[in-house]
Amino acid sequence: MHAVHEIADGVFWVGMNDRRIERFENMFPLSDGVAYNAYLIKDEKTALLDTVESSVRDRFLQQVENVLDGRALDYLVIHHMEPDHCGNIEEIVRRYPEVKVVGNRKTFEFFKHYYRADLSANAQVVKEGDILSLGTRSLRFYLAPMVHWPEVMFSMDLSDGMLYSADAFGSFGALPGTLFADELDFNRYFLGETRRYHANIVGRYGNQIQTVLKRLPVDSISMICPLHGPIWRKDLSVIWDKIDTWSAYRPERTGVVFIYASMYGNTAEVAETLAFKLGDRGVGDIRLHDVSKTHPSHIIADLWEYSHMVVASPTYNMQLYPPMDALLRELAMLNLQDRDVAIIGNHTWSSAAVRQMIGLFGTMKDIRLLGEPLDIHSSLKAEEEPTLDSLADVIFESVLNRS
Ligand code: FEO
Repeated sequence: MHAVHEIADGVFWVGMNDRRIERFENMFPLSDGVAYNAYLIKDEKTALLDTVESSVRDRFLQQVENVLDGRALDYLVIHHMEPDHCGNIEEIVRRYPEVKVVGNRKTFEFFKHYYRADLSANAQVVKEGDILSLGTRSLRFYLAPMVHWPEVMFSMDLSDGMLYSADAFGSFGALPGTLFADELDFNRYFLGETRRYHANIVGRYGNQIQTVLKRLPVDSISMICPLHGPIWRKDLSVIWDKIDTWSAYRPERTGVVFIYASMYGNTAEVAETLAFKLGDRGVGDIRLHDVSKTHPSHIIADLWEYSHMVVASPTYNMQLYPPMDALLRELAMLNLQDRDVAIIGNHTWSSAAVRQMIGLFGTMKDIRLLGEPLDIHSSLKAEEEPTLDSLADVIFESVLNRS
């Protein structure tokens, strides 16, 4: 049985779903797997666009062979050298020794870091603007450095505007027997996972994504074919606008995400109390996450979506509570910016959490601290309620102003 699909005249999806994988990059939990998309063009020449992860190699190679149906493979185009896509290059070259492997200078540099095969007889180096003619179809290459890795490139089919976008526009989640975003209820099943993928995988590279979005001939694009997740052939502005918003670090909605750490429930109680005070004031869109329970990738996805955050954490061993410290460092690494933040600390005998959280947010761009950070002693006391009310007022005002 083979799961290939002709997505355009002579263009076949030959990707693979991996539903057994637990964590993408051995970090990000996958409740519904992931798809490694690869495409095979059969024109006067044949071209395979990317391969898949080595764990799903056998079925992938069989699919390629079946679609080729006895024809030779003329080209293998490598848009991205990360192993989730390049895990079969050596095997493809072994099976199709005449194949030309198409990449840029950095592609082949990275290939040597990973593999031992000598590609010198097969390599075809392309640069920005080069065009690969396949017959009726021609691929125009756009270098897209740091749209995850330095060697990344996109290509666009000049005959009909199909864009092969590497990791950009990608999503977690295996494809459910349908491939197109307009077929599979994108908003229900994939929007959240597309946001989580973007924020965690390419979130750091917003500026580079903005650069390449501006360089692409947007009006000529008919289909967006990423390396993960659904393919877009209708309403392209939906995903284009999302990627534009996320890569510009603009919040999608006005609301408050609480991130709290709590060893014995006291800091959690402060967060809950403040959340209800915000609710009483009319803030309707509030999310709460315990950093010790919710995987950071889900919290980060929410922070990409929302405008405001309340961060509450105890001091631990005279430092910031480690899971909160790790999360805030990850946010800084991912370049999250342009958010409004309220800070609450908790301590019994040594206060460090507030100071260190302020320091970590100070490393991020356009982070506005709301009100005076609150530093409670072990548990919330009745006499501290007015201070919490004042903080709720400040957050509420800020939410109103950003609505
Ligand atoms: Fe899907 Fe950056 O690899």
